[in-house]
Amino acid sequence: MSQQPIVAVLGLGAMGHAFAANLLKKDFVVRGWNRTRAKGEDLLGAGLQLSDSAAQAVEGADVVIAMLSDGDTTRQTLAEASIALKQGATVCQMGTIGVEATDALIADLKKARPDVLFIDAPVSGTKAPAENAQILVMASGDQTRAQAAEQVFAAIGKGTQWLGEAGASSRMKLVVNSWLIGLMQSLAESTRLAEQFGFSTEDLWKVLDGGPLAAPYAKMKLGMIASGDFTPQMHLVWALKDAKLALDAAGGSKLPALENIVDVWQQAVDAGYGEQDLAAVYQYLKR
Ligand SMILES: NC(=O)c1ccc[n+]([C@@H]2O[C@H](COP(=O)([O-])OP(=O)(O)OC[C@H]3O[C@@H](n4cnc5c(N)ncnc54)[C@H](OP(=O)(O)O)[C@@H]3O)[C@@H](O)[C@H]2O)c1
Repeated sequence: MSQQPIVAVLGLGAMGHAFAANLLKKDFVVRGWNRTRAKGEDLLGAGLQLSDSAAQAVEGADVVIAMLSDGDTTRQTLAEASIALKQGATVCQMGTIGVEATDALIADLKKARPDVLFIDAPVSGTKAPAENAQILVMASGDQTRAQAAEQVFAAIGKGTQWLGEAGASSRMKLVVNSWLIGLMQSLAESTRLAEQFGFSTEDLWKVLDGGPLAAPYAKMKLGMIASGDFTPQMHLVWALKDAKLALDAAGGSKLPALENIVDVWQQAVDAGYGEQDLAAVYQYLKR
């Protein structure tokens, strides 16, 4: 497709809103739907065509992005919209919905709309990278038919990594997030220990800086801890969802640290930290 595809974005939360905004900046025709309509209204001036239903939003769209919270919501929304999909449209599922729901979604669409191309396309990167079109798209599915999707991914991210048959990317996404979740818990605990010994977060970063342990992600999260501002880049409640999805899909793999983190993070969510950034686990440990 030489022309820009028409894109529908289903879900205008932190990530979907950033995708729609970047597509509009790059002159795509963008149709949007969100359960809470108000979240898309600030993009009306930039040209967003905001619909009252997912089915209405996907009408005439060449590429449909689903960026919703979880598997059940995504399956239900796409089931409602599937009848209205354009013949031969491409559906890109970009949320973190895990293995079981992804495989079920592939089967749902194959049955309801065999003409549609499904791309499993979760992303690496949080709200700020999404706003700056700096996310990485992990794509799987039939790349030979995915030119329209690739135009969209190029507008919202810094690159696309193709990983094989549809479903592979949702598996890789759980791998990446289990590492991220372990890193966050370890950083929160190390920071608590540093404080116990009288060191500041700045002391800790100065020792790490310049060496192989100085992950930019750790720097960002140490900054949140130092400032006490846990405005969510990634909600703790969604990170907990991802840890549970990884355990659900782990099969015979033993993941004892992740199991413990799920217990601790569930307690943190129950204690009211779920709507903050996942770095708020530090605050929970500090109570
Ligand atoms: N934020 C990140 O760092 C990040 C990074 C990579 C992947 N992800 C994944 O991407 C997905 C979206 O994340 P986000 O950060 O954009 O989340 P978010 O800001 O909480 O947005 C969630 C979206 O799902 C919608 N939704 C939730 N329940 C619904 C329901 N029952 N019916 C219809 N719509 C519903 C919300 O609509 P309302 O506005 O009406 O609530 C909103 O559009 C999640 O799977 C998340 O794990 C997030």
